[in-house]
Amino acid sequence: MKSLWNLVKDTSAQPEGKGKIIALMNQKGGVGKTTMAFNLAHALKSEGHKVLCIDMDPQFNFSSLFGVNPQGRAHIHHLLVNSVKELKPLHTTDLLDEVITRTSVGIDIIPAGQELSGFELTVAGIQSPRQLVLNKFIKKYNLRSMYDYIIIDGPPTLGLLVVNILCAVDGVLYPFVPDSFSQQGLKNIQQVLEDIREMEICDVPVNLGYIPNLFDQRRKQVKADFEKIESELGGGKVFTPFTNKVQFTKAQAQRKSVFEFQHNDFKDIQEQFLTMARFVQAELRQ
Ligand SMILES: Nc1ncnc2c1ncn2[C@@H]1O[C@H](COP(=O)(O)OP(=O)(O)O)[C@@H](O)[C@H]1O
Ligand SMILES: [Mg+2]
Repeated sequence: MKSLWNLVKDTSAQPEGKGKIIALMNQKGGVGKTTMAFNLAHALKSEGHKVLCIDMDPQFNFSSLFGVNPQGRAHIHHLLVNSVKELKPLHTTDLLDEVITRTSVGIDIIPAGQELSGFELTVAGIQSPRQLVLNKFIKKYNLRSMYDYIIIDGPPTLGLLVVNILCAVDGVLYPFVPDSFSQQGLKNIQQVLEDIREMEICDVPVNLGYIPNLFDQRRKQVKADFEKIESELGGGKVFTPFTNKVQFTKAQAQRKSVFEFQHNDFKDIQEQFLTMARFVQAELRQ
């Protein structure tokens, strides 16, 4: 695994900066944000797109899945701080080309690390808009011109990191488990979006849809539950649910996507992610 800014620079990705940015969000942890982000990135890659992943969760599970260990190395937090002029005393010498990492599957990743949990405090005193640091960072480095799709994995929190993500992306996918905590997590993010809209902080991203996850296939009630949730979510596509699949556990244990397995057992899930990837492409096409 190596860092390769030069290779990234002269790619065939759209030169006008038309790359699309998608985040996987839910305030609740354990609902499948990272799993969905990881496999969606692979689905888009398998469709021939150039993909960058950005880990925005201080617990850095997304980075770990890509085999990147951020301990003792620079990550997204350092890049974000470095891109705020007012924080000059805190700047480090880390460059994007040292942080961006190409994985063996040809997807690039900007990892996260524990320091990202201090982001909110770090930018607390700055005069420039604290909510737009990630947005400005992406613009500064023209990342949209280097990639077709940028996939952001969100943290299981509400707060400045989440607002930064919502103000940087074109569309959001919302994985959730059909329980009340997970659905409350979705409602809380909708409230943040409402606040962003009301305060005119930034353009509000498109709702690309809800991804029901860990559905209990044994329950006869599934269809009824699903319909109830669909109506409660009030608008927005609801994807075909993912049930509890041992394939995810197996793939994750090997730090692989479901696309790296040829066995028939994986075909359905692969198809689900390809359908999601195609839907997202169609929704965000200009
Ligand atoms: N459909 C599924 N079937 C089985 N295990 C799953 C499924 N979705 C997620 N998992 C597992 O659940 C755990 C939490 O998922 P993760 O994607 O890390 O959630 P989040 O990012 O929202 O915290 C992970 O160990 C993951 O492998
Ligand atoms: Mg996660």
